[in-house]
Amino acid sequence: MSDVVRYEREGPVAVITVANPPVNALGQAVRQGLWDAADRFAEDDAQIALILGEGRLFIGGADISEFGKPPTRPFLPDTCTHIERSPKPVVAAVHGPALGGGCEVALGAHYRLAMKDARFGFPEVKLGLIPGAGGSQRMPRLTGVGPALDMMPAGGSVSAEEALRIGLVDRLGEGDDVRAAGLAYAQELLAAGAPVRPVGALPRPAYDAEAFEAARALWARKARGEVAPLRAIDAVDAATKMDLDQGVQEERRIFLELMETPQRAGLIHAFFNDRKVSKLPEIDGIAPRDVAQVGVIGGGTMGAGIATACLLSGLSVTLIERDDTAADKARQTITGNLDGAVKRGKLTEAQQEATLARLQTVTDYAALSDADLAIEAVFEDMGVKKEVFAQLDAVMKPGAILATNTSYLDIDAIAQSTSRAADVIGLHFFSPAHVMKLLEVVVPDATAPDVTATAFALAKRLGKVAVRAGVCDGFIGNRILATYRGAADRLILDGASPWEIDAAIKAFGLPMGPFEMGDLAGLDIGYMTRQRKAATRDPRDVVPTWADAMYHKGWLGQKTGQGYYTYDGRKGTPNEAVMPLIEEARGNRPQRGFTPEEIQRFYMAAMVNEAAKVVGEGIAQRPLDVDVTLLYGYGFPRWRGGPMHWADTVGLGGLLADIRLWADADPYFWQPAPLLERLVAEGRSFADLNTEAA
Ligand code: COA
Repeated sequence: MSDVVRYEREGPVAVITVANPPVNALGQAVRQGLWDAADRFAEDDAQIALILGEGRLFIGGADISEFGKPPTRPFLPDTCTHIERSPKPVVAAVHGPALGGGCEVALGAHYRLAMKDARFGFPEVKLGLIPGAGGSQRMPRLTGVGPALDMMPAGGSVSAEEALRIGLVDRLGEGDDVRAAGLAYAQELLAAGAPVRPVGALPRPAYDAEAFEAARALWARKARGEVAPLRAIDAVDAATKMDLDQGVQEERRIFLELMETPQRAGLIHAFFNDRKVSKLPEIDGIAPRDVAQVGVIGGGTMGAGIATACLLSGLSVTLIERDDTAADKARQTITGNLDGAVKRGKLTEAQQEATLARLQTVTDYAALSDADLAIEAVFEDMGVKKEVFAQLDAVMKPGAILATNTSYLDIDAIAQSTSRAADVIGLHFFSPAHVMKLLEVVVPDATAPDVTATAFALAKRLGKVAVRAGVCDGFIGNRILATYRGAADRLILDGASPWEIDAAIKAFGLPMGPFEMGDLAGLDIGYMTRQRKAATRDPRDVVPTWADAMYHKGWLGQKTGQGYYTYDGRKGTPNEAVMPLIEEARGNRPQRGFTPEEIQRFYMAAMVNEAAKVVGEGIAQRPLDVDVTLLYGYGFPRWRGGPMHWADTVGLGGLLADIRLWADADPYFWQPAPLLERLVAEGRSFADLNTEAA
């Protein structure tokens, strides 16, 4: 018998256990094992079969690492149908997640029992796919089209109780032993003479024109270029019009069509990167330090957001402010953030009270003497930061971690200003810090490995995705951002309008263009950055003088109602009054028109070239660290995988050729990254670098 699917007898019950750690994924051997187990059950004298998953869950889905390779027999849809066609009843007892193919195996059974921790869902669209083994045909036969239209285009899932309510499962299991509960249910069905009950033989679900129209309208709006959600709706539609075999074929046809798309490849790249990003040799096997008490210094938007994130994950927070008024204001901001969490249903009012009880707002650093970690979020000025670190150095206990939330300052210098450089690290949060998923963990030279390990453990606890970065101006994300923002300014000087650029970048899949983003963040931020860099700026660099002029006019974006757009509430319309300022900056520089594709290529090439420098210099250890950073901190469309994956897809050679061409006109901005040149010369890709680093 198979290694990954066990077949045993418990009296009249044939127990079929999928045992393929870590998530019982349905790779070829598991599919074959299930197929053979169904055959064996048909042949022996067992009267009912029980399908279980071993370990912490039922089945986590198809084996994603097989996607993109030629499919091997038996295919999953056939395996599910083979189980469904069993001449004797089959029960699935589900604990933990039953996702995608896992849910489809459960739907192939005749009866379904859900333990309290069970979750049923179809995450395929998150991988650029749709259910591929009858899920879109069988689920609506049990639940009607409504719940399937809620779940499949969203890649969503439901709890055991919800699954019972919508008719996806027959029964909730008692206790926490899935095998015992499953056996009891099987015995009960047997005693009652329960018949085989193939879901596929149930009548077609009714077509509900209104529900389909609403789902299509919703996902046409939400998908932003992503194709799978709308195709998932088409598959559910097929269930209302076709018999099971035809419907399963139609679903499979769509599934295989999507399998060939770059979107599928991009999303699967992102799926595995989410897991690889925290796997770093330097912290492998290193125990993190304990963190229960956190100090936050500074209660502005950033500090309050960081405090909120820590409180929401169960940590105790002591927030330090200059005076009582500022401390009260910080408490109000945090309370407001938590109100938001209550409104979004993430927290009950009782929990909010208990959460706030873990917050202390004070003015004296002495309150941090017991803290395990302090995160400084004060004004971005080296002198101010060093003063804060001197105070922290004086009061904090030995072994405590001293972190800075700076977004560009030299953390090596901050560390060296203390008597404990090994305990200093950068934790660069993104605003709003209790919402944004990205955390750049910036590691200076002297940092102890267990401090880095603690930062990664903290990120996990906060529900954030941590990326390791080295020290440089802007680290990974803001450094790359500065360059592609620079590309946008050059496009303006060469003849594109800010609104054309925004539209092209949105068409590429980002939620906002660079100028809309500037308006949202406040145009004073860009102005301050330019001021800061003015002293060290290369004379060949382009300065967006129109943006300085906008600043001086008080056009700071959304907060003043006027920027690149004029605002009525949050909705902006192009602010044509910007054009004369731009014309002045253009002077008699030659102008031309740009297509959206040209804009996208110019902007993306700048992003990739800078990213290649960031990797080449070791600021990011692998291309995948850049991809994860841009996805979680900068709105890069997940279905494109990330800028490095995108670059591999379009071809590094062509990108480098374009960069060299543009360098004729602007040799300062378009200096090809040495790493990009080397990869092109060697015929290699960023993906190759990821693989070599693994
Ligand atoms: N195929 C192949 N590998 C998978 C997998 C799948 N369907 N699901 C998870 N894995 C791997 C992960 O890459 C990880 O590998 P690693 O330890 O080498 O990094 C390991 O299994 C554990 O996964 P992880 O996500 O860390 O475990 P978890 O307990 O946090 O979550 C799941 C378990 C099943 C909820 C989660 O892995 C998941 O959502 N998987 C994807 C499910 C899916 O999309 N299925 C549909 C496929 S059509």
